[in-house]
Amino acid sequence: MNPVSFNCTVLRDGHQSLAATRMNSSDMLPIAPILDTMGFSALETWGGATIDAGLRFLKEWPFDRLDALKKAAPKTPHMMLLRGQNIVGYTNYADDVVEAFVATSAKHGMNIFRIFDCVNDPRNMETSIRAAKKAGAQAHGTICYTTSPVHTTESFVKMGCELAEMGVDAVVIKDMAGLIPPYETHELVAALKKNINVPVWIHTHDTAGLGASTYLSAIDAGVDACDVSIAPFANGTGQPDCLRMLALLEGSPRKPSFDLDKLNEVQEMLKPIYDSLDKFTSHKNEVVDSDTLRYQVPGGMLSNFRTQLKEQGMSDKFEEVFAEIPVVRKALGWIPLVTPTSQIVGVQAMLNVKFGRWKNISPQAADIALGYYGRTAAPVDPEVQKLCAEKMGKEPITCRPADLIKPGMADLRKKLEEKGLPTDDEHCVIYAMFPQEVEAYYKKPEPKAEAPVAISTPAPAAAGISAQVSGTAGNRSMNIVINGQSHSVQVERVN
Ligand code: CO
Repeated sequence: MNPVSFNCTVLRDGHQSLAATRMNSSDMLPIAPILDTMGFSALETWGGATIDAGLRFLKEWPFDRLDALKKAAPKTPHMMLLRGQNIVGYTNYADDVVEAFVATSAKHGMNIFRIFDCVNDPRNMETSIRAAKKAGAQAHGTICYTTSPVHTTESFVKMGCELAEMGVDAVVIKDMAGLIPPYETHELVAALKKNINVPVWIHTHDTAGLGASTYLSAIDAGVDACDVSIAPFANGTGQPDCLRMLALLEGSPRKPSFDLDKLNEVQEMLKPIYDSLDKFTSHKNEVVDSDTLRYQVPGGMLSNFRTQLKEQGMSDKFEEVFAEIPVVRKALGWIPLVTPTSQIVGVQAMLNVKFGRWKNISPQAADIALGYYGRTAAPVDPEVQKLCAEKMGKEPITCRPADLIKPGMADLRKKLEEKGLPTDDEHCVIYAMFPQEVEAYYKKPEPKAEAPVAISTPAPAAAGISAQVSGTAGNRSMNIVINGQSHSVQVERVN
């Protein structure tokens, strides 16, 4: 039996989950060369929220971080999390923008693109998978694990087979909420291993305290690689700690070999960094959150909702809003809760409780109902869909959503030229997702933490909802104006 491989997430999901994505490149650079010699099968160094948060809060140009980390850790493959047609943004982008993003990232040294789609529609992953292969990188097809009456081992295996047929180099089980039970993991990994010919990898979070047991089950069932992090950027809402996993695997033929002195050295280097980010860390994120099990939602949603409901004077409605989440998910075809659907479902659940069910529908929720985010696991409630079509003034679609989006690169280049900004592909693809942040980056070269900037989550106009008008980036909140009334909303990222 082969030892299981470990991927190290500390430079991406580790600090995204436990320190609001605030670790900066200068903190990472002394650690990267040590990680590079430790035998990890991949270092997750980029993607997810790191590009948005790095640009917005740390004033770091995303490709500079990638270049620097590649130089510091040239041997181990670098991995990034890519939201399929959403790239690392919150809506669908044109195929040529997705292609340019993947090609450019590969050119800067990205080796593994871990590609997922927020509604698990493989059609939204086609373009990025093809682009990664074309660039000579690895494309990993990802299944977002979620619980619902229509999600079963069979349905996940069916998706795994579809991804394998699309030519992916590995299939990944992505359990962003840390909710997959260990015995179900065993069944799913065994079924995937039986039905597909490419390696099976797994990613979970320890939010509900299941992570390490989930990995043990996956390893018993033959999983090829697990994502681990390094304490203190590990456990809790992050990935299980590498050292803890090694201890759990003691005596197993699948235990991988790691230099514990090096692991210890990295851990000691990470401690002061973690302490320096105390504004962004929270004891609640470090411990087992049994509410995650109770409410079956990602930990990030819970903490943000507590704040948000308090701000709205709706703290007494906590249970009601949480009871509304499955109602919204069911009406929208049982979509998983992952960026950006976790935000969309959360906001809609709140609107339903505040104004009455489906009295106010956010443009994003309407777009999901109308098929603009892709095909959902179950059909959308026809009544809700009808309501959304009326509100948005557009018909439901069944095609691949990006088929309706015109190529974007030429326009992006033109816009950048007009603004006197660089017009290379790097700038075009980042500007496509974060226009205000790119402009702010060039206006304010000096790092200026937590300046109020507009949140770039796109907001198509809809009847009754004027716009998501402004946001304060520091506390990740945005305002939605509904019928002239302003509502503050927290934005959490669940990757
Ligand atoms: Co994650």
